[in-house]
Amino acid sequence: MSDRREGVSPATDPGAGNPPVRRLAAWDADALSGLAATYDTPLYVLDLDRVHENYRRLEAAFPDAEIYYAAKANALGDVLETLLDAGAGIECASAGELERALAAGAAGSEVHYTAVNPPATDLEYAVEAADEHPGLTIVAGARDTVDRLAERGYDGRLGLRVNPGIGAGHHEKVRTGSDAKFGVPADRAVDVLADAADRGFDVVGIHAHVGSGVSGDALESHREFVARVGDLARDAAATVGELEFVDVGGGFGVPYREDEQPLDLEAVAEATRDALGEVDATLTIEPGRYVVADAGVLLTRVNTVKEAPETTVVGVDAGMTTLLRPAMYDAYHQIRNLTADADERETVPQTVTGPICESSDVFCEDRDLPASERGDVLAIGNAGAYGYEMATQYNSRPRPASVVLEGDDVWLSRRRETVADVTHPERAARETVEDKSERGEGETTDESRRIR
Ligand code: LLP
Repeated sequence: MSDRREGVSPATDPGAGNPPVRRLAAWDADALSGLAATYDTPLYVLDLDRVHENYRRLEAAFPDAEIYYAAKANALGDVLETLLDAGAGIECASAGELERALAAGAAGSEVHYTAVNPPATDLEYAVEAADEHPGLTIVAGARDTVDRLAERGYDGRLGLRVNPGIGAGHHEKVRTGSDAKFGVPADRAVDVLADAADRGFDVVGIHAHVGSGVSGDALESHREFVARVGDLARDAAATVGELEFVDVGGGFGVPYREDEQPLDLEAVAEATRDALGEVDATLTIEPGRYVVADAGVLLTRVNTVKEAPETTVVGVDAGMTTLLRPAMYDAYHQIRNLTADADERETVPQTVTGPICESSDVFCEDRDLPASERGDVLAIGNAGAYGYEMATQYNSRPRPASVVLEGDDVWLSRRRETVADVTHPERAARETVEDKSERGEGETTDESRRIR
């Protein structure tokens, strides 16, 4: 598949360095159209070279920090492997992410598991994983979680997530730092840590996360947030002894709009160091979006163009089940028509919508775009972060395929689901019931169904 790669993503001009943002316009339209023709749509395309570049930029801005990539932004095995090779650790939010990080080759010391109200099976998986992969750190966000770990015989590496009382981010639904759901309230954190240390846990760090998609304008909140974490780290160290890390979470925003400027990473890094003050522990960050957002686009094909009195409705084959962010957060994503003559077409306001039976299934409303025609392929930008990860099977719609690009290579990283994938768990359950009744182990199929 190697020749298809040529020019899909912007050529890396060594003189141009590592630009802080890759705009949708910089992707090669012909090459992306070729991918849509080969792999069909909807299709996620992810450029691993860009993932690598984004990681390098973070590393350069935070030379003394440890970087744990937040897998929730994009947990594709190829992404995790690329980042592990580059030297990152992985921050996991669930047993599933833990399994994927370990499968990608992460050593225990390269994994942080941040447990948010963890279901019992997640905790059990994490405790076992920590046993098999020494160095793995579990970060608890409630005293209950510490108790539940102790009940499972765990007294290994423990971090404590603290609620700093300050939130920031692109939407109220992602401002975790001020949401009581996350972390131990700051004024109780030292007690919980001291108690854990008394019970024999290896207390290694404290953690806080302000929110997601934090822009440069929020630098003052960031400063205040980090200063609180710094104070807490010093209080904690005075009580439980030296910590290994102080983790200030992720949240680094990216420009979704054409005219938005990229984050000044150097300024954020400087503000972080400044606000943290003297701490005898390694600064740790957990970026997700920043690493993968502009490395990905979503390709979708126009199937319907409908003139309505108030707008032109453009129906495409991706929907809120493919990319949920616009429906959930009113998030803006750039849209580009990849057809060769698109630039010569008249520009008309269009509402681009998916195939889902919900009025929230809209990618943009009345946006000026070149007049769409049935069969056109549209690229939706910045789809590398929280795109596939939030995809669902609502409306019994199979999830899309993902291809990745690296150097001159292109490969299918995850096949497209089929309706059989959607119905498999249900068929499997029926088959189990039917097997049992055939073996005379249960009641008749109908009765068994009722008992369930
Ligand atoms: N660390 C923790 C503990 C987190 O909860 C998160 C994100 C991150 C790190 C990474 O944050 P990032 O660097 O990616 O901003 N679905 C939403 C974003 C939810 C983020 C949840 N936590 C969206 O599409 O905007």
